[in-house]
Amino acid sequence: MVALDGPSGTGKTTVARKLAARLDAGYLDTGAMYRLVALAVLRSGTDPADAAAVAGVARAARLDVGTSPGRPHARLDGEDVGAEIRGAAVTTAVSPVSAVPEVRELLVAEQRRIIAEVLAGTAGIVVEGRDIGTVVAPDAALKVFLTASAEVRASRRGAQDTAAGRGTGAEAARAAVDRRDHLDSTRAASPMRAAEDAVVVDTSDLSIDQVIVALGELAGRRGLLA
Ligand code: DC
Repeated sequence: MVALDGPSGTGKTTVARKLAARLDAGYLDTGAMYRLVALAVLRSGTDPADAAAVAGVARAARLDVGTSPGRPHARLDGEDVGAEIRGAAVTTAVSPVSAVPEVRELLVAEQRRIIAEVLAGTAGIVVEGRDIGTVVAPDAALKVFLTASAEVRASRRGAQDTAAGRGTGAEAARAAVDRRDHLDSTRAASPMRAAEDAVVVDTSDLSIDQVIVALGELAGRRGLLA
């Protein structure tokens, strides 16, 4: 199993999916699970800052994320919401939602269940998130923490948003990246940080393909290549 952690704008999702395909492994996007809970919170009219109410929504929501790197799906109570969970409303609500300890407990348990299920049937799994190497799977055979400068991450995120038709400008993208980094790395419950035994890869000056080559070499050295 490969644990791939780091902030947004590092190319993590693209890298995780391509690496999983290359290793003939499954793929799990744990961020999508937090986003599904955030969407359930918004849809129910719950205040994302009301931790007890958010925990209640999380317990009741039916989350379903796919583990195929080719076409991972994300469903909430049976409805395909893959596009909606990437929108601005969910992106804003997800930080306070993912800071609620009970939400994290529920999702970490579900993530471990999915990982065990996939590992029982295939060669391996690439899991992306913020706390995979530290909390969800401290025994992962390979732990990677992707980083990039805040400027580079904001410009990548801005380009992604523009491509998806929800461009808000470079300054807004930078402010959103800074805000979410701060919230994700200073929260009390499982703050984002690199595991002590993680390989830190700075992707500021690397293309996606160069990152894949570097990770493929690391995976090969640990006997993870299919
Ligand atoms: O990777 P992403 O942008 O889809 O993640 C969405 C949010 O969920 C992000 O603000 C951090 C949080 N998250 C988390 O706390 N733990 C994870 N394992 C994955 C994501």
